[in-house]
Amino acid sequence: MTSDQDNIKTRAAIIGCTGYTGYHLVDLLLRHPAAELTYLASHRDVLPDLRDEFPALLGRLDADVAQTRPIDFDAIAEEADVAFLGLPHKAAMAYVPQLLDAGLRVIDLSADYRLTDQALYEKVYDVEHDDPANLSDAVYGIPELFRKDLPGATLVANPGCYPTAAALAIAPLLSHSLVKTDRIVINAASGITGAGKSPKANLHFPEANQGYHAYGAIGGHRHQPEIGQTLSRIAGHAVEPLFVPHLLPVDRGILETIYLEPSDPDVTEEDLIDAFVDAYSDEPFVRLRESPPNIKHVVGTNFCDLSVRLATVGETKTVVVFAAEDNMIKGASGQAIQNMNAVFELDETLGLL
Ligand SMILES: NC(=O)c1ccc[n+]([C@@H]2O[C@H](COP(=O)([O-])OP(=O)(O)OC[C@H]3O[C@@H](n4cnc5c(N)ncnc54)[C@H](OP(=O)(O)O)[C@@H]3O)[C@@H](O)[C@H]2O)c1
Repeated sequence: MTSDQDNIKTRAAIIGCTGYTGYHLVDLLLRHPAAELTYLASHRDVLPDLRDEFPALLGRLDADVAQTRPIDFDAIAEEADVAFLGLPHKAAMAYVPQLLDAGLRVIDLSADYRLTDQALYEKVYDVEHDDPANLSDAVYGIPELFRKDLPGATLVANPGCYPTAAALAIAPLLSHSLVKTDRIVINAASGITGAGKSPKANLHFPEANQGYHAYGAIGGHRHQPEIGQTLSRIAGHAVEPLFVPHLLPVDRGILETIYLEPSDPDVTEEDLIDAFVDAYSDEPFVRLRESPPNIKHVVGTNFCDLSVRLATVGETKTVVVFAAEDNMIKGASGQAIQNMNAVFELDETLGLL
């Protein structure tokens, strides 16, 4: 392991660099003062120069790094301390055991190690888990909630984009026992990059542009059990939220509006705000806002903006929490870099502010 104190940089490899999260990992690592991008790996037969895939990298990425190389575990381990995987689920777990055996720290942006229950993973993703042995070693990487697990971790399961915003938005209410846990409704919307780079008919510009709709099986989205797992861990008992995602025709950004029932009918808005201040006043990447946040103000950043309100309609009080983040930064690559910083015991904000 290296540290910035003696000026030795943490060396990073990326597998899946030609995708959206891969691009953002490259972009962030190039700005990182204590990390160095050393190995870009691709599974393609004809290995691309990443500057041809992403012309925005022209002039920023040296030719020897920009030329992608095969996924050769020993070569990666020789040149890197940490490997980021920006791969689809199922593809990631095909590489993780060899990367760990080669001595690398691994930060996996896919869903393969996020759910601790193998049977649940197999049901939700409808595939067999090929690497159950490493499931129990994976650390779920939301530093604001589970920071103590990260220093020295060998395998980090980087959370999903929607689950990150939902967990940060709901955690303070659960840890302060301010809400009931039997009816939590998460209404969420994501920009189109959330679906990755591969073209899909429903994401084609004329289909998506100027539209707005819910998608997937209502109450059956893959992120719902992941959110439930985190909320259950914080609450100390099973919590199953309802999660309804929508496709928002913008490039990037997630907004979630979350409805909860107060556990005490006399709760005040001040009590709610106090819980959020208590949880996040020292967190560099969580900003508490008075007004409901706007995705415009978080896009391109590693911030998650939160706002909590108590709405009273007739006799009924509802806790409403708003969360906004960039799906590809705090929802993916930015959080992955934050996790890398925590694993290598660097200042968590390095490369991200
Ligand atoms: N996009 C988001 O906002 C977001 C947020 C949070 C988490 N995630 C998760 O992060 C992961 C990557 O997402 P993404 O949006 O970056 O996806 P993407 O744009 O579709 O990119 C996928 C990458 O994986 C590579 N790949 C595909 N199959 C592979 C295989 N069998 N072996 C090696 N490489 C393979 C692709 O290479 P080619 O270009 O050669 O096909 C590409 O580089 C996914 O698991 C996703 O669920 C995404």
